[in-house]
Amino acid sequence: MKHFLSLEEQSSSDLEYILNLADKLKAERGNTSFKPLACQTWAMIFSKSSTRTRVSFEVGVRELGGQVIFLAANDMQLGRGEPIKDTARVLGRMVHGAIIRTYGHQDVQDFASFSKIHTVNALTDHAHPCQIVADVMTIREKLGEIKGKTVTFIGDGACNVATSWIYGAMRFGFELRIAAPKQFFPAPYLIEQAGDCLKVTEDLDEAVRGSDVLYTDVWVSMGKEEESASRLELLKGYQIDVDLMAKANDGALLMHCLPAYRGKEVTEEVLEAHAQTIFDQAENRLHAQKAIMAWLVE
Ligand code: CP
Ligand code: NVA
Repeated sequence: MKHFLSLEEQSSSDLEYILNLADKLKAERGNTSFKPLACQTWAMIFSKSSTRTRVSFEVGVRELGGQVIFLAANDMQLGRGEPIKDTARVLGRMVHGAIIRTYGHQDVQDFASFSKIHTVNALTDHAHPCQIVADVMTIREKLGEIKGKTVTFIGDGACNVATSWIYGAMRFGFELRIAAPKQFFPAPYLIEQAGDCLKVTEDLDEAVRGSDVLYTDVWVSMGKEEESASRLELLKGYQIDVDLMAKANDGALLMHCLPAYRGKEVTEEVLEAHAQTIFDQAENRLHAQKAIMAWLVE
């Protein structure tokens, strides 16, 4: 049974296949009889807020010919303490696939193993793999092959999106730099696992020089709200503005997984100057995730 839980578990060739399929689905959108989820119902179980991920998956399942049920975790017995392994075994008898956004990564792993249906990680505290597939798709569209490029992640280098970028660098063969305060460096085991693909530094200027892509995410991820004040203080020197962008390579992209907090991780001016890229990136969630689901049911 195939799942999509973390880029770490996917092979480079499967990811390449998914990216090529995503390009094809984007080009053929609205003009295709490709319905690999026909006669299937997929469940989406979300414990955290979402705009992009929810809409892109709901639209994506329907465009692939399937039906979709959205379940807010708090409205389920899960919210009253029913174990994930029981929820998984019930849903596994009723639906064909599950898309889960939650806190603990172990929960999506347990769901996958107990449900025995295709399971997709739509964001955990540990990883956000669907985001990075859409991001790499966007970079390929705008700059060509990602191999050999330099992507610099700026801000909370220990967050789920940064972690998925690290696994992405290991699979796609580009250089990833992470510029963050020491408190927000990736976990040591990840730095060790990534080896030469990853450079981690506190020095923003050094990280940005020679970069093809600057990437950022919120400073306060979902679930970290209690740390807001200290995070904003520690990360305030890592804002992306027009001057920082100018230190990257000519034609460098600014990317953001969104939602964006203007005046925090990014300025209004630089975000609006790169809105075309950032909203193409958001759109590509739809195409990339359709490709992931089509690949899962093959
Ligand atoms: N980037 C992203 O996952 O957005 P949402 O939280 O709106 O789904
Ligand atoms: N790191 C962010 C990503 C939001 C899409 C969070 O987990 O809230």
